[in-house]
Amino acid sequence: MKGIILAGGTGTRLHPITIGTSKQLLPVGDKPMIYYPLSVLMLAGVRDILLITNPADTARFTALLGDGSHLGLRLTYAEQDTPRGIADAILIGAEHIGDGPVALILGDNIFHGTSFSETLAANARDVRGCVLFGYPVNDPQRYGVGETDADGVLVGLQEKPERPRSNRAITGLYLYDNDVVDIAKNLRPSARGELEITDVNRVYLERGLARLVDLGRGFAWLDTGTPESLLQAGQYVRTLEERQGVRIACLEEIALRLGLIDADACHRLGSRMAASGYGQYVISIAAELR
Ligand code: G1P
Repeated sequence: MKGIILAGGTGTRLHPITIGTSKQLLPVGDKPMIYYPLSVLMLAGVRDILLITNPADTARFTALLGDGSHLGLRLTYAEQDTPRGIADAILIGAEHIGDGPVALILGDNIFHGTSFSETLAANARDVRGCVLFGYPVNDPQRYGVGETDADGVLVGLQEKPERPRSNRAITGLYLYDNDVVDIAKNLRPSARGELEITDVNRVYLERGLARLVDLGRGFAWLDTGTPESLLQAGQYVRTLEERQGVRIACLEEIALRLGLIDADACHRLGSRMAASGYGQYVISIAAELR
């Protein structure tokens, strides 16, 4: 399965912070925001990932992540010159997707919870149609909202509804079979002039091929779109990390645990950042798992 991370957009709700830099490079806790969605794709078993950024930010992302080989990944880059909607990522990534399935994730979505890797791995296997992930929120009006039947088949979908029929927001992680490329090519822009991912999902719903997997209340799906939510996300991460002595979304640790790199390589990556707590953690993990 191929992966796409959409890290474009202008982050207007975070101005002036995001005037000079990309939102997805801002810190959440002690690491850049992009580490969180990247870790999700790694845990889903994805190794070949296209990162879509604003032209102005490409150089910063490549400085941070390079070609991904140090993590046992293949990372490539594409640019989105203006925000044309989430589904535009499928068009930009059509060649990258090729003839197989794809996992699309938004570069500002943070997921954290028990057994998430198992949930991901189980659902990423043999994707037929699309798999969406739902999360209960108290402000469903701000999101795509879904309803399912008893088997988890999606039967209703609304985008930012005034009167939501459920409180299950559709999170920014989408698994699709290869039909998504044709579906995206045939989309028309919405009233706000964007290619809406909800319109893609609606095609799958009409075909009876959309599933909504509940992430449940013991899980964290965090927003980073405003100064307050960004700070809260950072505090959530640091609270858990300090209490437990582990790191969330430590890419080097995940790569090592997945067998994508060995302990020596992990140690070398940590040594380059030895002045920071994150670097020290990477070094300690390399020693622990050697
Ligand atoms: C987008 C989608 C929405 C989804 C949300 C998740 O909204 O349109 O369906 O629930 O991402 O983050 P946006 O953040 O572009 O307003």
